[in-house]
Amino acid sequence: MEESQNKKIPDLLVDEAALAEAQKGLMERPTMSIRAKITLGFVFLFILCAVASITFLVMSSLIDRKLKFMETLNYYTFEIQQARRYEKNFFLYRTNLPDALENVQTAREILKKESNSIMSVIGQEKLKVMTVHLDRYENYLNDLRAGGIPLAGKAESVSKIEAELRKLGAEMIFLAVNLVNKEREEVEEMSKLTRRMPLVFLAVLLGVLVYLTHFSAQQIVRPLNRFVDYTIRIARGDFSPITATRRYKDEFSRLAIAINWMMEQLQKNQEQYIQSRKMAAIGSLTSGIAHELNNPLNNICVTTESLLDELEEVSDTEKRKRLQDIYTQAERASGVVRNLLDFTRMDRPSFVPLSVHELLTSTMKLAKNEMDLNNVELEYSVPEQLPHIKGDFSQLQQVFLNLIINSIQAMPHGGTLRITGDSNDQGFVQIHVTDTGQGIPKSILPHIFDPFFTTKEKGTGLGLSVSYSIVKKHGGRILVKSETNQGSTFSVFLPRVGGVS
Ligand SMILES: Nc1ncnc2c1ncn2[C@@H]1O[C@H](COP(=O)(O)OP(=O)(O)O)[C@@H](O)[C@H]1O
Ligand SMILES: [Mg+2]
Repeated sequence: MEESQNKKIPDLLVDEAALAEAQKGLMERPTMSIRAKITLGFVFLFILCAVASITFLVMSSLIDRKLKFMETLNYYTFEIQQARRYEKNFFLYRTNLPDALENVQTAREILKKESNSIMSVIGQEKLKVMTVHLDRYENYLNDLRAGGIPLAGKAESVSKIEAELRKLGAEMIFLAVNLVNKEREEVEEMSKLTRRMPLVFLAVLLGVLVYLTHFSAQQIVRPLNRFVDYTIRIARGDFSPITATRRYKDEFSRLAIAINWMMEQLQKNQEQYIQSRKMAAIGSLTSGIAHELNNPLNNICVTTESLLDELEEVSDTEKRKRLQDIYTQAERASGVVRNLLDFTRMDRPSFVPLSVHELLTSTMKLAKNEMDLNNVELEYSVPEQLPHIKGDFSQLQQVFLNLIINSIQAMPHGGTLRITGDSNDQGFVQIHVTDTGQGIPKSILPHIFDPFFTTKEKGTGLGLSVSYSIVKKHGGRILVKSETNQGSTFSVFLPRVGGVS
């Protein structure tokens, strides 16, 4: 026995609430368009380039400043060295003292003129030390000049000043040279760094570009793939709306909203199509219906005629009996018409408690002629007192009419159609429609509930898919058991009123 329960059967009817919910979810998110994200990426790139350029500029201006400082300090050192040379001359020959003072003066001017740039490189402290040194040096020289010849006698104090001057001068040169050397080292370090910077920048840029490319691919490729999945699912007939999956609203959200809307329209068209196919099915049932109507009308005509002819002769009881007959036949005809109207209606379902027995007998009436024409024998055993189910009469009638017509069509050379019903422990009423027809091959069993799947030349392939969605809407399900050349059983489970007892 083959069994099919078809869990992934699509709903053919619009779930308007779910759709509205999905559309709302898609709309009510903060907007972050892909365009904005890409722009942001480029802004980041620009900032990166700007930072690199500014760093480069700052570095080169720093190097410039240091070079300038080194130059200034070289002039300063030169002046001090010159002063020391004259100072030596003074001690040897007592000459050149004013020249030495002049050099010191120039050195001081250099310090004063370039004080800002020197300070910016070595700081205020060191500049102060240098100025103090210079002051002391100058003071000693001034002492020498003031003392002049009188000092010549006091060789002791002169030699002391000489020693002090030597020491101070050496210290000043040492400090200046040291500073220059230190700055030179720094400049070398910095220029090495500056030379390396473009390479580092290129590496970082490459990294950022790779990341941005990857990121934008993810932003575009991943949703695209998702949308490919959506279209496949929609093509399979699953019209459940696309819901929001990401935190931000972007161009793809607009696409999702448009697709949801398109699905809504598609579903509406499909419903209209189903309705038109239903009308076509009615067309093919017309001969049976004509027969159904013709019988009672004929009976009415015959009985009325006889009553008119024999109005005077027959007894009152007989009259009453014939009128009763006419009434019954008229009832029968109007019942057929009512059934037909029920079947063609496409109202919103109205769920009311229904008697399964009444539902099935009225449905069988619609198919009775088909059964007779196809030599199909009916075995009906559905207890009248079966618990009521809650549902829409005309929709459920469609379900059973579809199943019965399918069964009749599966038995072109006649057979038996058995309709049984009972109630199970899980709170369901189950109705089994069994035929002794050709059965359903294993290979097509998974497809019989698909919309438009048919193996019949003039089939619509909608009977089972519509039936499935109706039963699903009623909170029930359909189960199939079938064996080729033996027959099939379609079991419909519908929740009974009051649930589990
Ligand atoms: N009782 C049955 N016996 C054999 N095959 C069946 C039966 N019911 C349905 N089928 C198969 O399922 C297909 C789909 O049925 P349905 O959706 O009612 O569409 P249609 O009757 O228009 O073909 C049928 O074409 C047929 O192949
Ligand atoms: Mg069918």
